[in-house]
Amino acid sequence: MTETKSKLIHTFGALAELGQEVANRNDFHETMRTSLHLLLGSLAIMRGGVARYSRFEHSMQIVAARALGDEFPLAMSLCHEDERQFLANGIYPIEVSQAQVLPFVQVYDNSLSRTQIDLIVPLVIRDEMVGALFLGDKATGEPYSSYDRDIISAMGRHIGVAISQRNMLADLERQADDNRKLYDNLKTTYKDTVRAFAAAIDCKDRYTEGHSVRVGKYSEIIGTELGWGDDEVEGAAVAGYLHDVGKLTVERKIINAPYRINAKESEELNRHPAVGYEILLPIHHPYADVPLAAKYHHERIDGRGYPDGLYDRNIPYIAKVVNLADSFDAMTTDRPYKRRRPASEVFEDLQRNAGKQFAPEIVNAFFRGMLKELTGETKEKRFRRLLGREYMEAEGLVPLLRNALNGMAPTSPLTFINGD
Ligand SMILES: [Fe+2]
Ligand SMILES: [Fe+2]
Repeated sequence: MTETKSKLIHTFGALAELGQEVANRNDFHETMRTSLHLLLGSLAIMRGGVARYSRFEHSMQIVAARALGDEFPLAMSLCHEDERQFLANGIYPIEVSQAQVLPFVQVYDNSLSRTQIDLIVPLVIRDEMVGALFLGDKATGEPYSSYDRDIISAMGRHIGVAISQRNMLADLERQADDNRKLYDNLKTTYKDTVRAFAAAIDCKDRYTEGHSVRVGKYSEIIGTELGWGDDEVEGAAVAGYLHDVGKLTVERKIINAPYRINAKESEELNRHPAVGYEILLPIHHPYADVPLAAKYHHERIDGRGYPDGLYDRNIPYIAKVVNLADSFDAMTTDRPYKRRRPASEVFEDLQRNAGKQFAPEIVNAFFRGMLKELTGETKEKRFRRLLGREYMEAEGLVPLLRNALNGMAPTSPLTFINGD
């Protein structure tokens, strides 16, 4: 085999290896080190380095080096003229001794000559400068042949592509990060707006202060107990916060009437689900069908609710969740014409109406949440905070809930042992 042939085979081998290196490695700096090693090794070059160029900072940072010594600068800045000339040159070796007109060579002349750098190779990929190679002399002391220069260009292209890929990835990560921040900001704004709305709704109804917020919180508990993801639970809370938004258009004296309202007043009040739907429809709600929850939160699964008298499966699930939360809050807070009912009575009511007004699995989830808190299975004090400690500590609630859970879901995989 002639010397040229074996050199050629060796070079192709090194190129193939370099290609693989660029494609496989995740560790950028390791890729740069191995690539430089391969390049220097295949041409027996004594020393060299790879620099990455930042267009924004107009500076090059050394990312891999071999035998460059301490004197070689780790960061070098470029002026516009340097960048222009490097770009025009492309990935071809520039002889340092022949490039004294370059401002870059003038500025770094000392370092380049002290380290005995013979060649600078701008790494230009898709008309963009991504870095440069700095190469010292060959171990044989021979000058670089045109064949050597071609190999350097070919390998430089591989290294340049690896840097370019890395830059693209960094850009993507930055963009994703910006998007995430923007999304978080939007989310916060949305939540704040929803809460402000809920406060405005509750303001109008002086007897049921905090109703919307509580319905939001009960809906959140139900969503959590149903095993929903964070976004869905958040959606349930929002649906609860906004379910009565239509009441903003109902006359204050009807909402606050300290007596049972008459049929005409009741008709006006009963329009609030449909009005709420109209108000909420144009808003984009990220997680749940909030407008439908508002429209159907007074439907019952036996078809005796309003406004449309829908039956079970035709009622949106989120509306069933809000319906239970809403009814529970109505029963457990003082109204102008009615005192709050004791917990045991409320639970019996919910159990009795599971399958009539409420979806049994939603009552079930609600009971489970309550039971967990009463038995200390969860340290959260969600119900205690909403209902008051005393209310939650009424006698016999735990067996009552256990019985209810056993009675309502005989085929459920959950087994609640009866008796306390
Ligand atoms: Fe309502
Ligand atoms: Fe309500």
